[in-house]
Amino acid sequence: MNKQAETRYPIHDLLATRWSPRAFDDRAVALETLGSLFEAARWAASCFNEQPWRFIVATREQPEEFDRILGCLVEPNQAWAKQAPVLVLGVAKKSFAHNGNSNAHAWHDLGLATAGLTVQASALELYIHAMAGILPEEARARYQIPEDYDVVTAFAIGYIGDADRLPEAAKEQELAPRERRSLAEQVFSSGWENPADFSK
Ligand SMILES: Cc1cc2nc3c(=O)[nH]c(=O)nc-3n(C[C@H](O)[C@H](O)[C@H](O)COP(=O)(O)O)c2cc1C
Repeated sequence: MNKQAETRYPIHDLLATRWSPRAFDDRAVALETLGSLFEAARWAASCFNEQPWRFIVATREQPEEFDRILGCLVEPNQAWAKQAPVLVLGVAKKSFAHNGNSNAHAWHDLGLATAGLTVQASALELYIHAMAGILPEEARARYQIPEDYDVVTAFAIGYIGDADRLPEAAKEQELAPRERRSLAEQVFSSGWENPADFSK
C-alpha cells in the first residue's frame, strides 16, 4: 500500500514514505537489523547528552516476552499489534544523572531517539507504529521499572502486511487518507499565528 506523504515542498524519500501501519507481515526482523535501528536511536541528540531513553524489546520468536509487552498495551492496540514481529516499550529517565535535577526534556529526547530509529527503519523498508495507548503501571509492574522512569510509549516494528488481515475497525483506519495541518498553521514568524513567508 502506498501512503506516501503529499508534500508542498520536496522532502527526502525516507520521510515521505514513512507512515504508521497496523498490518504487518509475518516476516521476522533480523537481530542485526534491530541492532541498526537501536544504534540509530542511540546517536540522537539529547539535553546535556543525558540519553534518557530506555527501550524494552521483544520479538515474536520469544512468545512469552512478546506477550509480556503485548499485555502492556490497551486492548484496541493489542488487536492489531499482536501481528507485529517486534514490540518495544519506550521509557524515559526523569532526572539528570549529573545532578539529580528533574529533566523536563526527557520525553522530548525519547521522541527524538525514536524519530532517529524511525528514519533508519525507513531506510531498511521497515515501518514503526507508535502507541500512547499503553498501561504504564502494568509495564512498571511487569518489568520492575524504577520510579525515576516514565513509561511513555510503545511501538511496533515490522514489514508492511496485508490490510485484509486486520479486524474491521483497524482496517478502516489503515485505508484512510493521511491528513496534516497546513504549514501556515504550524510555522510562524514575527508573531504568534503569523505564518512565515514560506508557510503562507
Ligand atoms: C506518541 C504517539 C502515540 C500514538 N498512539 C497511538 C495509539 O495508541 N494507537 C494507534 O493506533 N496509533 C497511535 N499513534 C499513531 C498516530 O495515530 C499516527 O502517527 C498519526 O495518525 C499520523 O499518521 P502517520 O504516522 O501514518 O503519518 C501514535 C503516534 C505517536 C507519535
